[in-house]
Amino acid sequence: MSKTSGGKPAAMWGGRFEGEADELFRAVNDSLGVDWELVQQDIRGSIAWAHALGGAGVLTPDEVSKIEDALKELSKEAAAIPSPPLPSGAEDVHTWVEQELTKRVGSLGKKLHTGRSRNDQVATDLRLWVVEQCEHRIAEVKCLQRSLVAIGSKHASDPIPGYTHLQRAQPVTIGHWALAYVEMLARDVDRLESARGMAARSPLGSAALAGTTFRVDRSELAMRLGFSAPTRNSLDAVSDRDFALDLMHASSVCSMHLSRLAEEMIIFATGEFAFITLDDSVTSGSSLMPQKKNPDALELIRAGVGRALGNYTNLLTLLKGLTLAYNKDMQEDKPPVFDSMRRLSLLLRIAARVVERTTFNLEACERAARGGHANSTELADYLVEKGTPFRDAHEVAGRLVREALAGGCSLEDLSLETFKKHHPHIEQDVYARLTLDAVLKRRDVFGGTAPARVREAIDAWRRSLGMS
Ligand code: ARG
Repeated sequence: MSKTSGGKPAAMWGGRFEGEADELFRAVNDSLGVDWELVQQDIRGSIAWAHALGGAGVLTPDEVSKIEDALKELSKEAAAIPSPPLPSGAEDVHTWVEQELTKRVGSLGKKLHTGRSRNDQVATDLRLWVVEQCEHRIAEVKCLQRSLVAIGSKHASDPIPGYTHLQRAQPVTIGHWALAYVEMLARDVDRLESARGMAARSPLGSAALAGTTFRVDRSELAMRLGFSAPTRNSLDAVSDRDFALDLMHASSVCSMHLSRLAEEMIIFATGEFAFITLDDSVTSGSSLMPQKKNPDALELIRAGVGRALGNYTNLLTLLKGLTLAYNKDMQEDKPPVFDSMRRLSLLLRIAARVVERTTFNLEACERAARGGHANSTELADYLVEKGTPFRDAHEVAGRLVREALAGGCSLEDLSLETFKKHHPHIEQDVYARLTLDAVLKRRDVFGGTAPARVREAIDAWRRSLGMS
């Protein structure tokens, strides 16, 4: 730490080096512009480390509390610094924190790095950050789930077509449709919780790669940082970024779910479908075509998976083939992870807003649900009850659909005579079975779309999401 020139802080390895770092080297090597994001985690980790050094007898209790007070002060100041303090000349956030600490407590600050390396430090910081991000994303996913449950509650029994191959298949209720996304998002919460668990291990005490020589209590350190346990192998601890990959996986799948929701809502909002109306506040107009109302927010949500997956691939690829233990390649882990989290947070929040402000055009939904001969499965089921084997019933119902298509009408518009021409067992009671109401009500199985089942599912979700 001896050589300083032109106001630039000395590098942390000053003793071994004679010349100064090339400016292009610094441009490629310095990471403060990116890892400033970890400043609060670095300070938390440093406070915990000071206590560990106190426990090991390296620092006196008085020194520990001086360091702790100064770092707490620094934490407040750092929170008020809006962008990375590049003029400080610090190479990375770890250097910055140490520099600032030393400014405040003098040479005592230089003791903090005893028995620690930036390798176990950065692994700790990133783990702390990932744990917090998991918690934030889980909260945001739950908000979106609440918006969907609210829509579902409002329209628990209102019909809408259900599709396969984007062809009308069988009617479902809007509540059932909304809850399908709630279920997907619930699995995203599970994945985020699992990623959180993976990240919650403490690398501190691993030092550069082989373990620290000072007798720190690693379990106590882990607890102090809110981690569940210390990592078990120092070589692995400083070079493991799997926990960040797990987060990226969880966020890619979540982004994929969001993109499916977005695409469906985009289709539902077209003039051709007109099932929903999007709120003006989350759409935009055209500079040329006065009639346009574009679903930009939904389109950007749909696009989000590209970024999520790109970042995931970036991180996975940069880790491939790395020898043990730390390699500088690993510094490149942060931009994709940070970017994915910022984006996912934004997309989850806007998705909740779009959903909340969407109105369903119930008439159009119902009209579409009645059309498309989507009650033909019901006709086949009806024949099964009258003793016809399902394959034959399917055939008869198919022929009746052709009759209806030829006549430009629905199945329930066919005369009883026509029905009977195709199957003598069809009676007057077929008409009651073909109504939209009956078709919905009969899907009365756990997980089915019968309005009573949907209401049950909604109640369960309301309870589990803490909705009144
Ligand atoms: N800025 C570095 C990173 O993010 C910190 C660790 C540096 N360690 C080292 N041995 N040079 O990975």
